[in-house]
Amino acid sequence: MATPTLLLLLLFLASAVLIQANVTYDGKSVIINGRRRILLSGSIHYPRSTPDMWDGLIQKAKDGGLDVVDTYVFWNVHEPSPGNYNFEGKYDLVRFLKAVQGAGLYAHLRIGPYVCAEWNFGGFPVWLKFVPGISFRTDNQPFKDAMQRFTEKIVQMMKSERLFASQGGPIILSQIENEYGQEVKALGAAGRAYVDWAAKMAVGLDTGVPWVMCKEDDAPDPVINACNGFYCDYFSPNKPYKPTLWTEAWTGWFTEFGGPIHQRPVEDLAFAVVRFIQKGGSFVNYYMYHGGTNFGRSTGGPFITTSYDYDAPIDEFGLIREPKYSHLKEFHKAIKQCEPAMLSSNPTVTSLGTYEQAHVFSSRQGGCAAFLTNYNPKSTAHVSFGNRRYTLPPWSASILPDCRNEAFNTAKVGARPSQVQMLPTNTPILSWDTYNEDILFLEEGSSMTAIGLLEQVNLTRDNTDYLWYITSVDIDSSESFLRGGRKPTLFVQSAGHVLHVFLNGQISGSAFGTREKRELTFNSPINLRAGTNKIALLSSTFGLPNDGLHYETWKTGVQGPVVLDGLNHGKMDLTWQKWSYQVGLKGESMNLISPDDVSSINWIPSSLAASGRQSLSWHKAYFDAPRGNDPLALDMRSMGKGQAWINGQSIGRYWMSYASGDCEPCSYSGTYRAPKCQYGCGQPTQRYYHVPRSWLRPTKNLLVVLEELGGDTSGISILRRSWAS
Ligand code: GAL
Repeated sequence: MATPTLLLLLLFLASAVLIQANVTYDGKSVIINGRRRILLSGSIHYPRSTPDMWDGLIQKAKDGGLDVVDTYVFWNVHEPSPGNYNFEGKYDLVRFLKAVQGAGLYAHLRIGPYVCAEWNFGGFPVWLKFVPGISFRTDNQPFKDAMQRFTEKIVQMMKSERLFASQGGPIILSQIENEYGQEVKALGAAGRAYVDWAAKMAVGLDTGVPWVMCKEDDAPDPVINACNGFYCDYFSPNKPYKPTLWTEAWTGWFTEFGGPIHQRPVEDLAFAVVRFIQKGGSFVNYYMYHGGTNFGRSTGGPFITTSYDYDAPIDEFGLIREPKYSHLKEFHKAIKQCEPAMLSSNPTVTSLGTYEQAHVFSSRQGGCAAFLTNYNPKSTAHVSFGNRRYTLPPWSASILPDCRNEAFNTAKVGARPSQVQMLPTNTPILSWDTYNEDILFLEEGSSMTAIGLLEQVNLTRDNTDYLWYITSVDIDSSESFLRGGRKPTLFVQSAGHVLHVFLNGQISGSAFGTREKRELTFNSPINLRAGTNKIALLSSTFGLPNDGLHYETWKTGVQGPVVLDGLNHGKMDLTWQKWSYQVGLKGESMNLISPDDVSSINWIPSSLAASGRQSLSWHKAYFDAPRGNDPLALDMRSMGKGQAWINGQSIGRYWMSYASGDCEPCSYSGTYRAPKCQYGCGQPTQRYYHVPRSWLRPTKNLLVVLEELGGDTSGISILRRSWAS
């Protein structure tokens, strides 16, 4: 009879064998515990929702037929200052991965730590820019040291929580870097050396699972290079012994303020996936499966919207989007039926007509599976295959898991479409109070002066969006404009992103950059008076760049020239005179957003405030939590631009900027270009702002709004979101 100790040992050995997964790969697929797999994956970024939403999102991913959840790791939220780490609340990466594991799914951990992702500074902490001698994402020692430190930190954390599949955890793949291919082209030898170093460094961390580099054609062995795009059927890995992975199959696209909303029809998405897997692709990750919300000041860009909905199968608020979700779910079932055939044979391709093809996977062990494709974007095809006839709608593929019966066609959508609804909650927002920023006596509080104009992020360190540039000009009473002549103009050149010009405490106007062109100019007549005039320029960032060669060197803020024109003697250049600086707004330093704030002396009832529509003012009010479980949003249509907080937590930046440009109805180009498919032109790009339920208490929730342009707070309302078919 076995002794208890021996029994325990046997039990331990058995569980070790059962639980620990060995993950490798070959030219056909990722191999888990000796088994090749077709893996369907979806991106869900943990800080873009709240922890109470995670289980629901992950369960929906599972029910939708996914095997894997993919997330980036966001360095800047985890290490807000060097060596100080934060893995709490919505930054609790371990909890998120354990939720993935709890649902029985795998994870792909894209550590980066450069992530792009429309995230502030591409995921890098802003302090990294100030490390002496640093140069991002190249063969630079200070950068490599910092990158290695963070990557090791994450890997160690995963290991100590036993989260790698090699330890019994869910992580089957990890990513190092992100889309480095373009940079290598620009940087040459230094870029090459960096990629080699990054691969070696990652592999040396000994995670027991394969590493991936996306969009990096030269990924050094054993790192697998992977494709990102709207279509990836042109892609092959750089070595025949690596599997064909698609790390970002774009389900839609992000939006930027002032632009339209992008959609990707699910028919096109499914067709793109078939085209990939019928050529031997064995891992597809939907980017995004749930896009979520860019809370706080987490968006990059600049000018990426607070909503990161992405037209994903699960919408920003965590609700299922139809027909996208269910069509993909049915699609995944059909793919899974083909898995044995696909993984045990190579496809035979035959032409069925000018635009039509059959890809057949056939083997003794795996049976037979076929994909019939019609690449013609305009007309239906009738094809013969085996001894049967099949009808293929334009731009579609049929899946025949037994090489005879059509289980699914990418263009035949059975799921009912549904319409999003934003419904009233009848929750009053009560007792508005106002606090107006004091602009006239600004520089009295400022400690910093300089001759000339300073770079913004050098001063703010991105602890706030706002930097004041303050100066004064003396105007002689002999100036002719004071006696009815043409008003002088003020010209201000800024490197971005937003500028509000105040003269003697009054707003004179604003100017805005765009994501594509961050630089802006202000050029307008202003109301100078005789004597001393105070010019206060409020420069504001709108999410730091997340992409572009050496974006850490890009400048922000008023860079000059600043010139007054139209005086008696012509121009007066203010660029090189004395400027005072103030980092942030008064209301920020007073912590007006805090629910514990007792300093009610700062606030006055809005009805008594000078003007409810004054620019640069703070507003606060209270509301009770609306009943029910529907996700909630603030309708900010009556406001201008700013930020909003609920019980001290930021729901993000808002801006009623109207979508311009061409809204084109959906159409397939028949090429690798994404189908153009946009809507919302003439409307605010983003009117509704997600209020997470978990941030609310039953009664007396504090809403604080910082409004830059002037708005009507009485028009703000709380809505609930649902979808109706
Ligand atoms: C990719 C990038 C992602 C994301 C995406 C656009 O190129 O890898 O991080 O930025 O573009 O949403």
